[in-house]
Amino acid sequence: MNKQLNETAKKVVAKTILAADESTKTITKRLATIGVVSNPEVNRQYRQILFTANEIEKYVSGVILYDETIRQKTDDGIPFTKLLSQEGVIPGIKVDMGTVKFSDDKPDTYTEGLEGLEKRLLEYKNLGAKFAKWRSVFTIAGGSPTDEAVEKNAQDLALYAKICQDAEIVPIVEPEVLMDGNHSIEKDKEVTERVLASVFNKLKAHNVDLSGVILKPNMVTSGKDNPQQADTETVAQTTLEVMKETVPPEVPGIAFLSGGQSPELATRHLNAINKIRNTDQNKYPWRITASFGRALQGEALEAWGGKNENVTVAQKVFIERAEKVFLASLGQL
Ligand code: 13P
Repeated sequence: MNKQLNETAKKVVAKTILAADESTKTITKRLATIGVVSNPEVNRQYRQILFTANEIEKYVSGVILYDETIRQKTDDGIPFTKLLSQEGVIPGIKVDMGTVKFSDDKPDTYTEGLEGLEKRLLEYKNLGAKFAKWRSVFTIAGGSPTDEAVEKNAQDLALYAKICQDAEIVPIVEPEVLMDGNHSIEKDKEVTERVLASVFNKLKAHNVDLSGVILKPNMVTSGKDNPQQADTETVAQTTLEVMKETVPPEVPGIAFLSGGQSPELATRHLNAINKIRNTDQNKYPWRITASFGRALQGEALEAWGGKNENVTVAQKVFIERAEKVFLASLGQL
């Protein structure tokens, strides 16, 4: 076991992780929802609102940055990574380069970015990153995800994790089974279990040190177009069953993505999961927190609306949500 990696991983999941690593395409989409046109300077101003929010460090222990963002500075010329580190918030970096389809007739994708990864990691490390993130995506539809897609994505997640650890960077391993579709929670359970089992098989096969890994999975829910949505208790119970079945006890932390759930619902689910976890921490040995993008930022983005005069209220809204998510990560909401 690599003590350094394990300690960093534990620190990153100590509170919550803010996913602020939207790619250029994704941040463009998010800003468009408030009528703002994305460019590097606007993106910087928006992310500065989040990173400079008063007492962010009380609720947020890690922030995932994007290649553009890790090079940016505050209005006062302080690099974001330095600002965050000074506040005791650990900077991380998205290192995958997005998804590519296997074929036109199926939704299955694999993720690019292994080429030259070692070199990029060294640069990010010099810029202050202590952890990284790689996202694989799985869609439930017809015969998808196929065995080929599950195998290839699990394999690449393992290769990525190994390269990170060799560079003394903690890998966040993110296999996301999308909520898109009208499938049942049972179907989501089956697929998420299949994906996570494959991911941990490959991580072990590639000698990845599981004590220096953070898992970032989806919660197990009904498909978002299913009119019959599983209730909070069922989501919490089912999600924990899948984690118990697949996640080895050495893994220090599980940080759930929000996946398009509303801030309120994602927070409620996290709280319910941790309430169960608190009843038996031997059975559920990992720290369980959030690494939300939309569910941490959505309300703040709306409150800001691209206007300078709204910065203070946007920060207040962001911190209020961050506090709730942190409390939910303790099952204390
Ligand atoms: P969401 O919480 O908005 O799903 O984003 C998390 C993330 O980082 C996806 O890669």
